[in-house]
Amino acid sequence: MSKALVVYFSHTGENYNVGTIETGNTELLAKEIIRQTGADEFRIVPKKAYPEDYQEAVEVATEERSQDARPEYNGEIDIKDYDTIFLGYPIWWGDLPMVVYSFLDNHDFSGKTVIPFNTHEGSGNAGTYEDLKAELPNANIIGGGFNMTGMRARTEEGIAELGKWLENIKL
Ligand SMILES: Cc1cc2nc3c(=O)[nH]c(=O)nc-3n(C[C@H](O)[C@H](O)[C@H](O)COP(=O)(O)O)c2cc1C
Repeated sequence: MSKALVVYFSHTGENYNVGTIETGNTELLAKEIIRQTGADEFRIVPKKAYPEDYQEAVEVATEERSQDARPEYNGEIDIKDYDTIFLGYPIWWGDLPMVVYSFLDNHDFSGKTVIPFNTHEGSGNAGTYEDLKAELPNANIIGGGFNMTGMRARTEEGIAELGKWLENIKL
């Protein structure tokens, strides 16, 4: 297997449908992919943390989206040594959270294999896998992506389903 990296954003605190959580829904999927593939990890952590309160976080996210903002995040990673990049995120307003766009803008994905995965509460991938093809025209977006509800990501069944999907990806 080529050298792989899991890049993800996941929001903790009060979250839709699942109460207040210390480990984000997408984070659970990311950690399992890391466990099963031995991939390296880069978590996108916004410099300015989103509010813990769900409504307040939603307001900030809405504002960022309306401004097409590119929020800054902590740290950085050089992706040049990685052939395969798993990209994980929650659906926010039928889209990627804007801080994920910040990461995409800051890196050259030419020739990379990008495998998206996401959690949501009803929108599936919300068209983001197609959007990523337009966003990263020189990358090879594969795997059909993987998504499940945040609720399901918090169950053993959900994690087992992720494992089956991973087995079927030919890296
Ligand atoms: C600001 C915001 C916007 C959201 N918009 C959507 C949406 O458009 N469609 C959807 O299915 N879920 C939406 N959700 C729910 C999240 O995608 C879902 O709770 C996800 O599992 C959160 O993952 P995380 O814990 O990794 O952040 C939204 C959540 C937030 C906080």
